[in-house]
Amino acid sequence: MKQTQSKTLEQLATTYLGSPIPKYLADLMQYSKQPPYAQEFTVRMLQLMQIAKVQPKDITPVLAWSLGNIIPRILPQAWDGMVPPITTTGRHLKFDAYVRVNPWLKTTENPLFVDLGCGFPPDTTMDSASRLVEDNWRIIGVDRSFAPFMLYDPSGHYACFNANNKFLYYQNNMQISDRASFENPTTIRTNLIEKFHLLRAELPQFISEEFAHIEKDGFQLFVNKIKDYESEHVSFIESDIVDTGINNADIVRCLNVMYYFEESVQQQIVEKACNTLNEGGVLLTGGNDPAGTHACYLLRQKENSQLVTKEFAFSLENLISCSVVTFFTIHQPPDHSKLMAKTMGIIRTDESFWPDFSKRIDQLMEEKELCKRDSNGVLQFINDDITYADLAQRTRDLWLEANREGFGQGAVDSLKRAGYNAWQNCIKDIALDPNDFE
Ligand SMILES: C[S@@+](CC[C@H](N)C(=O)[O-])C[C@H]1O[C@@H](n2cnc3c(N)ncnc32)[C@H](O)[C@@H]1O
Repeated sequence: MKQTQSKTLEQLATTYLGSPIPKYLADLMQYSKQPPYAQEFTVRMLQLMQIAKVQPKDITPVLAWSLGNIIPRILPQAWDGMVPPITTTGRHLKFDAYVRVNPWLKTTENPLFVDLGCGFPPDTTMDSASRLVEDNWRIIGVDRSFAPFMLYDPSGHYACFNANNKFLYYQNNMQISDRASFENPTTIRTNLIEKFHLLRAELPQFISEEFAHIEKDGFQLFVNKIKDYESEHVSFIESDIVDTGINNADIVRCLNVMYYFEESVQQQIVEKACNTLNEGGVLLTGGNDPAGTHACYLLRQKENSQLVTKEFAFSLENLISCSVVTFFTIHQPPDHSKLMAKTMGIIRTDESFWPDFSKRIDQLMEEKELCKRDSNGVLQFINDDITYADLAQRTRDLWLEANREGFGQGAVDSLKRAGYNAWQNCIKDIALDPNDFE
């Protein structure tokens, strides 16, 4: 990696993608200004893009902007090695649907759903609970960092603190239009830390098991917020994911977690998940964008005390490179990212599918006012003042439309033409037998 770090973005893109990244996109990426860990992230992404046969002109402004502005702030190296507990309401709605209609799953009478690395606040676990409890599921969220103190500012930025009042983590409100918060995060962070100490002084002595909440000048301080989420059917365990002590789960979901670990730890997580599951239960690993798009996942099922890989699946939008999550990798790429890169490479070189598909997506990106190509064919933002929520909604609408127009089935047919056993799965994602790749 040292060797690649000393190379310029132009040299790296030429090595991996065959030509330099257009200036408009390279300016958004700000590669030379990034800390080494963010540069290494970009290099690993380019390496996977090479396998996926992505070309520089396929890079979207959203991806380039995210590499320049989000990645340096969310990688563990920016937080003393802590994996940030990022999760967002609505992120896993699709996976909840996948659980409810899953053809592989054999559940017990009072099934147990375990969400490993559920994040904090555990918004996605609570989403799942609201859908699965009516089907009689019990839900357990597991994470190693349920911060005892959490402070929101009036704009929705928040910070977490440990029991000794030490600052742990700061989460931006993710409004792309709120440029100041990206360009000068230190001001918001310092303000949150100062305000925390003022509000903390007003709270009675911290009692480790109790939930409390105070509000002042639009700032809200929560104590033991995790307790507020517990109910008859939903509980949380603060523990390492390989050490939960649970051995009767029907589903273990571990999303947006694997890519933080070395390959040996990824393997250990899979082995431990096997012990956590009942016979016939399934392990779901993979990732998706915080907006819920760009899902890419592997389903393994416990058979004769072993986990057997049954399905690799991904949503159509991964084929166009517009989210950092598709090739998010901090060490060796997890299995789902390796399969995604290989699959993308097959589909992108299919002349009976790719040209029509990419042309139509260009049209839709322009129609939804996300981005359009300039006279050199480089994708540019149409409105770079867009909010994150608006961007996410337009992206979702675009891909709903592309799926309605039959491009999901088109991608499946493309894989079949290349000799793979492919199908649209129970939630209409493109699915393959991962064993075909071994
Ligand atoms: C990026 S968040 C993903 C949250 C949620 N699963 C989602 O998909 O939105 C990763 C979470 O994994 C947790 N985590 C990472 N390593 C862990 C470990 N060894 N044991 C328990 N939790 C862990 C982090 O604390 C963090 O909350």
